[in-house]
Amino acid sequence: MRRALAVFTAFAAILWAALPLRFDVRGPRLGIPALLAPGEVFTTDLHLSHPGWRPALEARLERDGVSYPLELVGDHLAWNRLELDYRTPPDAPHGGYDLVLVDDSGVEHRRERSVHLLPPPAHDLRIVQLADLPTFGSGPPDGFGEGPGDAEMRQIVREINLIRPDYVLLSGDVAYVGGWFHYHKLHEHLLDLESPVICVLGNHEYKGLAGYLETMGAPRHVVDHGDLSFVSLNTGHGRDQLTASQFTWLERVMDERHDQRVIVQMHHPLFWKRKVFVRVDEMVELFADHEVPIVLSGHWHADNVFDEHGVSRTDGPDFPGTKYVTTTAAGAELHPDQSTAFESYHGYRVFELHGNQLGRYTYDGDGDGQPDTSSSHPAHRMLIEDLGDGGVRIASSWNEDLLGATVSLRSRRELVPDKGTLLRRRVQGDMILHEVRIDVPAGADFVVKLVEPRP
Ligand SMILES: [Fe+2]
Repeated sequence: MRRALAVFTAFAAILWAALPLRFDVRGPRLGIPALLAPGEVFTTDLHLSHPGWRPALEARLERDGVSYPLELVGDHLAWNRLELDYRTPPDAPHGGYDLVLVDDSGVEHRRERSVHLLPPPAHDLRIVQLADLPTFGSGPPDGFGEGPGDAEMRQIVREINLIRPDYVLLSGDVAYVGGWFHYHKLHEHLLDLESPVICVLGNHEYKGLAGYLETMGAPRHVVDHGDLSFVSLNTGHGRDQLTASQFTWLERVMDERHDQRVIVQMHHPLFWKRKVFVRVDEMVELFADHEVPIVLSGHWHADNVFDEHGVSRTDGPDFPGTKYVTTTAAGAELHPDQSTAFESYHGYRVFELHGNQLGRYTYDGDGDGQPDTSSSHPAHRMLIEDLGDGGVRIASSWNEDLLGATVSLRSRRELVPDKGTLLRRRVQGDMILHEVRIDVPAGADFVVKLVEPRP
């Protein structure tokens, strides 16, 4: 017995020494970002090839080609998991950053746009949610080529950048075919979003789960930002949507955040058909106890809104209790038979949060001046055309005003916008990006451009 143990130990030691030392940065990720104010601390989660090994790392944030060193202020090693706590520079400007870790052999590990330095969440917030995206890539044999879904997604990204929500939620079925190139393309598209993205998987992700996990990360997670928490649940697996272990995790997560404002997303709706089948009553009770204002889903490719009793509401969007909201497809085939909206179209949900109260969350589909019962905002009805030379044309076919939009104008030197309010300037290579706050009235068609400042 003692001899067997000695042989095993020797074998393990040889393996430990012979295998290359590697680690994987599990978090933060683009779809599971760290959201914090400059000067605050976030945790990086590493999985190590060799238990007990502590890689020597240099860490920094990068944005627009500028580096900001990170200060290691704590670490925690548990077998092959190493958590490193980094303090962000207090003078770094707000925005999305790449996290870069460089090991002692000079190899760079980069998690793009995974850290966002932001002010604490405001009382009034704007959030955009979308699900069931267009199909990216041209397909085999040249999957990485441009497909029609890429042009559609690029337009949606431009619209969301104009709306400029505080957060973007991506609620699953983000790539329909499951090839690695779809996730690669998805990642590319999401890098163009200015707002932080919080992503969860859907049933279609199980066709290419390795690709999803590699690019987007954990199937279920929670992202905290100040007094706000985003809980993303994994309902993607057909036979086993909300396991006992996931529900136990959810109970703990909610319990630890009893003072937080909590927003929930899961790909499958909780009610009606093609839904979550297990632990529905327990979950509804849990969300009611915590006064969760909204639970967001996709999957149906249709707009619908349920109350906590599972009743599809057609009497208006404002009723007591948690709103269970399914959002139309952003690009996948529409299913109007499952929709209670005035009209079915591709789109996304734009909603407001005032404290922990849900504000407006539906679009005025029929144009009567009142938000509809369940309609999402339509995609492809807001043209944003870069005219070059510091000018952008905005043409809205929305039947409601978009207040407090943000448009980005580029020039080689510091100028001022001829309309709206200049929020800030950012240097990007040899260009200066001017971010301008502007209202876009319903049906408006206008050009905003950079001009010389008045003396
Ligand atoms: Fe789905």
